[in-house]
Amino acid sequence: MTPASSPKRLHHQVALITGATRGIGLAIAHALAAEGCNLVLTGRDNAALKKISRELARKKTCVLTHACDVRDPHSVDDLFRTIRREFRHLDILINNAGITHPNLPVEKLPFPVWKDVIETNLNGMFLVTQAALPIMKRGGTIVNNLSVAANRVFVGQASYNASKHGALGLTNTLREELRPRGIRVIGLLAGATDTDIWTTLWPQAPRRKMMAPETVAQAVVQAILLPANTTVESVEIRPSVGTL
Ligand SMILES: NC(=O)c1ccc[n+]([C@@H]2O[C@H](COP(=O)([O-])OP(=O)(O)OC[C@H]3O[C@@H](n4cnc5c(N)ncnc54)[C@H](OP(=O)(O)O)[C@@H]3O)[C@@H](O)[C@H]2O)c1
Repeated sequence: MTPASSPKRLHHQVALITGATRGIGLAIAHALAAEGCNLVLTGRDNAALKKISRELARKKTCVLTHACDVRDPHSVDDLFRTIRREFRHLDILINNAGITHPNLPVEKLPFPVWKDVIETNLNGMFLVTQAALPIMKRGGTIVNNLSVAANRVFVGQASYNASKHGALGLTNTLREELRPRGIRVIGLLAGATDTDIWTTLWPQAPRRKMMAPETVAQAVVQAILLPANTTVESVEIRPSVGTL
């Protein structure tokens, strides 16, 4: 948390965070707000968005909440119409919205479940990024929340693994495409973090061994704050205990 007297290093900047209603996305929202960043927060849960907006208003930052389902191109278009009207541009995009599925071998994984995870974690990242690029300029930053599952596999997590491997490919391609435009693209590869996602994946998982979402958020904000003439391609952060 930035002390009240510290300079707000992201003052006047505008960040969009997908999946900001809880977990890592919400923690990043608080960390960016503490740096004076203006925020566009999305997710599907309107009631949660309203509550967060009230909480963040106390940090004296401008917060726009707008429900958006990243799987739906119309919903993404609608979100960006609002962003263009209210802010005209974006400095920071945090592609964070994501889901997982219960642990099941490929043989037993229902196709609708496979599809939903791919549509959220991979297609959603594509749709939001494509809509954001026309309003991002030199000096901007895109952070794609991948996972350690982007470059290793968890047995029983075929769709999650595939979505995150795909998202890593998208992230790496985007980084090279945007290098000439001076927009940085950072892959976030976090290990186990204590959020609701574990309720689907492994309800009995030992939460005390996991990182706090605030720790991951701090690492993200530190990377964003690095000077514009530095290249940071990924932020890798894992709990120091156990193999989670
Ligand atoms: N927790 C971990 O151990 C861990 C580790 C590495 C990476 N990650 C990644 O971190 C990201 C955030 O996950 P989390 O752990 O913070 O889980 P979480 O607490 O369950 O949060 C997931 C967020 O994604 C949003 N979301 C889900 N589907 C959406 C959709 N179709 N459209 C828009 N928003 C959607 C949810 O909002 P609504 O329900 O309101 O839509 C929620 O805000 C995910 O990409 C996940 O893969 C998590």
